[in-house]
Amino acid sequence: MRYFPAFIELRGRPALVVGGGDAAARKAELLVRAGADVAVVAIEPGADLLALAETGRVTLTERVFRAADVSGRAVVVAATGDERTDTAVSDAAGRAGIPVNVVDVPALSTFIVPAIVDRDPLTVAISSGGASPVLARTVRARIEALLPAGLGRLARFAEDFRRAVRGTITDGAERRRFWERFFAGPVAEAVLAGDERWARERMLKDVNAPASEREPEGIVHLVGAGPGDPDLLTLRAHRLLQDADVIVYDRLVAPELLDHARRDAERIYVGKARGAHVRSQDEINALLEEHARAGRRVVRLKGGDPFVFGRGGEERDHLTRAGIRVEVVPGITAATGCAAAAGIPLTDRDLAHGVSFVTGQGRDGEADVDWAALARSGQTIVVYMGANAADRIAARLIENGLSAATPAAVIENGTRPDQRIETGTVSDLGTLAARFSGRGPLLIVIGDVVRRADAWAETAAPLRVAAG
Ligand SMILES: C[S@@+](CC[C@H](N)C(=O)[O-])C[C@H]1O[C@@H](n2cnc3c(N)ncnc32)[C@H](O)[C@@H]1O
Repeated sequence: MRYFPAFIELRGRPALVVGGGDAAARKAELLVRAGADVAVVAIEPGADLLALAETGRVTLTERVFRAADVSGRAVVVAATGDERTDTAVSDAAGRAGIPVNVVDVPALSTFIVPAIVDRDPLTVAISSGGASPVLARTVRARIEALLPAGLGRLARFAEDFRRAVRGTITDGAERRRFWERFFAGPVAEAVLAGDERWARERMLKDVNAPASEREPEGIVHLVGAGPGDPDLLTLRAHRLLQDADVIVYDRLVAPELLDHARRDAERIYVGKARGAHVRSQDEINALLEEHARAGRRVVRLKGGDPFVFGRGGEERDHLTRAGIRVEVVPGITAATGCAAAAGIPLTDRDLAHGVSFVTGQGRDGEADVDWAALARSGQTIVVYMGANAADRIAARLIENGLSAATPAAVIENGTRPDQRIETGTVSDLGTLAARFSGRGPLLIVIGDVVRRADAWAETAAPLRVAAG
């Protein structure tokens, strides 16, 4: 992060704007809205600035900038469009240790002004760190459309009740849940719809209800996190991550995904590195149960889909037996995610009439898979957890009649920025797999459909990079 995001209190503090054009007028207006005591120095003030000065909202001085103008200011903004003057303003502010923004010139600025969605007192500030102001404005337009116009009214309504809620609900976590229920519930809806009278009556009832009536019920959501690319998270998974009190996650869950979670959510790593179990499955089950029993909303975040080689079924059954509510949220499994990113249509109509997902690793070593049936099936075969058994799997398939020349692909870190693909034939499978470090998850795809990836890579190389 190149810039530290912060909101500065400027109410009643002196601010200086240098420049007379539209950009200067917009910045002066913004500073006035923040309650600053705004002085403007301009040689030729435009109509907007003159109007601001006439209504007494800014003090206008019509002359060239002098270094002494910055003295005593809390912030300085330069928007003259003249490089020499802007540099002089930046230098003078720099010498005096005053934060300065030169409009559209990050190199001369010590702070930048973000694009803003204003739902006062709620303010959303968006910055691309100077990389692309147009992108920041595009994002702002989307957020503008997303946030109801009455959001400011809702924030003020909540503010009115803050003290009362703090007085009656003393436990911090319970209070946070109360507010979350409030913002997602009927009272907030009524405020947004303008029915504040009903909202106030109902709010008073809710705040004064006995604690037992407010006691939340714990729940565990078994959530598929997809194969790695955060954009492949489902909307539901995203919302649940933002609501969760506790997130219990695996090694395969990309760290960026946790950025989607609420900042104060408890994050518990239960990843299993090969051969080094951090926690046993029984311990994980007990952990989920314990947090749900304490009334928390638990997200059990698992790579891919929880019900595809994810032991989600075992966790669901344990929790159900323990009387805990469980919800399963599917995710994009490695096979479909990696195939898409690698350009392999798993069931291409001309090349495969089906696809099988199998594991390369059984409970106690070799997987109990009917390789003979698979070799004859004419289907695409996707092998999960096959990195260490690639040689053996290839041998089993070939001895059961699969042509040694059948195309095969090995995909490491599929859908992630460091995705790597090696293609060859089944007879090469062991050699292909051995080319990888073994640190990232590795998926094997066997079948004629793999040829489509190679053909696609030749014609669509830039897209392939973008897919990673
Ligand atoms: C324990 S399984 C979990 C599968 C997960 N539940 C799913 O639906 O994708 C772990 C295996 O999934 C595969 N895998 C998961 N994510 C992957 C990725 N991004 N790239 C390649 N393989 C992946 C690898 O074969 C890895 O050994």
